[in-house]
Amino acid sequence: MPDGAQFQGGSVTPADFTSQAAFERECREVFPRGWIPMCRSEAIAGAGAQKAVTVALRPLLVLRDAAGVARTFANVCRYRSMTLVEGETRAPFVRCPYHLWAYDLEGRLQSAPFMDGVDLSGCDLPAFATEEWGGFVFVNLDGRAEPLGETLRPLEAILKPERLAGWREGFRLSYEHPWNWKVMLENFAESYHHIGAHVDTLQALWPGGLSDSSTSNDRWIALRHSVHPASGELLVYAIYPHFLFAAYEPGTSAFWYDMTPLGPDRIRLDIVGLYPPEVAADPEAMARETPLAMGIHAEDIPVCERTQIGLSSPDAVMGPLSPLEVGLAHFRRWVKGRAA
Ligand code: FES
Ligand SMILES: [Fe+2]
Repeated sequence: MPDGAQFQGGSVTPADFTSQAAFERECREVFPRGWIPMCRSEAIAGAGAQKAVTVALRPLLVLRDAAGVARTFANVCRYRSMTLVEGETRAPFVRCPYHLWAYDLEGRLQSAPFMDGVDLSGCDLPAFATEEWGGFVFVNLDGRAEPLGETLRPLEAILKPERLAGWREGFRLSYEHPWNWKVMLENFAESYHHIGAHVDTLQALWPGGLSDSSTSNDRWIALRHSVHPASGELLVYAIYPHFLFAAYEPGTSAFWYDMTPLGPDRIRLDIVGLYPPEVAADPEAMARETPLAMGIHAEDIPVCERTQIGLSSPDAVMGPLSPLEVGLAHFRRWVKGRAA
């Protein structure tokens, strides 16, 4: 019997999707252990480009240093803890607007007014492991994850990171949603629901019953589909903990679900369309593409919202998974194993 059919959700319970304690445990035990995508490389193009992001509820600052290296620091001033950067900025240093402490682009405290004679050792910014892959910038908070390139190497023949690195953001749709990050991941990484939620859209192109996540493992869910004569193949990946990425093959476009978990029942989600530069820069092409992505997501919004409501009920269950959802079985085991 296929793995997914045997799997009833393991030790994952509805409370893992709804409780503050479970979410806090994930912030401590799950998110810091893996590679989390923070932004596209183009968002920090050029020396001194700086961007504020949130990972595992921690304010971080990702920037490009003078040598072109992407670096990530705590976005927290070493004086009175004010966040250093809001949104995006560009400067040859990081300067806190409160009392003007300034750090260089490698995180070293450079100057602090009226601090003569004060010991400022230990006042450099805490730094985190940072890697770029396929034009994405990732962080690993605990510094113990295996190099990202090694994790993703088996997927590179399919995902073609060199090509992805050259693609550009054509559109970005921004949402805030009242559901758990795992509800979003599970919705993204199974196509069983094409038969219900997307019956008039995706189901016609990539029927849910023909989806296959049997090559998923303890690092990612890989979801493949039948090849549609006009639209090609849809490749969907959820690389743990939550790099959600889909691409059409032959390579015309890709989609990144840029998700920031904010609480047990809250995520920020940006749906980002990635295209070859000339397509991303073509307003007519983007005027065609954007409504498609928006329309598909509009079909996912009510099902995810209502799943979260149901999971919060005393009657919530973790029902048996379909053989089409082997990947979800693997993911649940993985996430629970890390948050044990
Ligand atoms: S809090 Fe940053 S300089 Fe005062
Ligand atoms: Fe969906």
